[in-house]
Amino acid sequence: MKTVNELVKSVKFTSKNEIESFSPELQLIGIGRSAAVFQPRNTNLALKVFYPLQLPTADIEAEIYKVLGDNPYFPKLHENGPGYILIDLLEGRTFYECLESGVEISTYHIEEVERALTFARSKGLNPSDIHLRNIIITVDGLIKLIDVARFRQTKQCKQWDDLKKAHEKVYSKKWFPKKIPSAIINGVAYLYKKQLLPTNIL
Ligand SMILES: Nc1ncnc2c1ncn2[C@@H]1O[C@H](COP(=O)(O)OP(=O)(O)O)[C@@H](O)[C@H]1O
Ligand SMILES: [Mg+2]
Repeated sequence: MKTVNELVKSVKFTSKNEIESFSPELQLIGIGRSAAVFQPRNTNLALKVFYPLQLPTADIEAEIYKVLGDNPYFPKLHENGPGYILIDLLEGRTFYECLESGVEISTYHIEEVERALTFARSKGLNPSDIHLRNIIITVDGLIKLIDVARFRQTKQCKQWDDLKKAHEKVYSKKWFPKKIPSAIINGVAYLYKKQLLPTNIL
């Protein structure tokens, strides 16, 4: 069995942040803008390995998990070190995967995200970067938020308010399809980022 440090070192990225290779003791479970996430086999843990240029973000995210502490809404931090954090593995689906696969995101789920954000604010943090890929509905139906690295930024992040409005005004309507092809989700996300969606009319 390799140590966590050895597992982290086994992960090799290309200069374009593509994954080149990693230990067979790891299983790739997710890719984001700052890191790749692996499950060390036979564990209930998620190992987030940051891309070379994002190394300092590992310490920032670890410190924020420490501030959040033990709570029902965020995974627990088990360990951290240069360029990595080791947190609870969350079995379930991100909101993005729910849309792709047709699993309904209910008003209760939205309210739970609100409670998670209120909890983070009560710890003096400013929850940011709350989007479809950073919210998970677990197999037990619980809401968990991941990717907390930007919870100390001072800039206000509108993404969650816009998602909440979209849920209330569009998604929750009977006529709105609950399963959406990923090409369409990505297209809408692209237009949103480019500020080409009329979000102010929602
Ligand atoms: N603890 C976890 N349990 C299960 N899946 C996870 C976990 N953490 C991350 N993931 C998956 O990996 C993806 C990337 O992780 P994330 O922390 O959001 O990285 P980034 O900071 O690069 O966006 C997530 O969108 C999710 O699909
Ligand atoms: Mg993310």
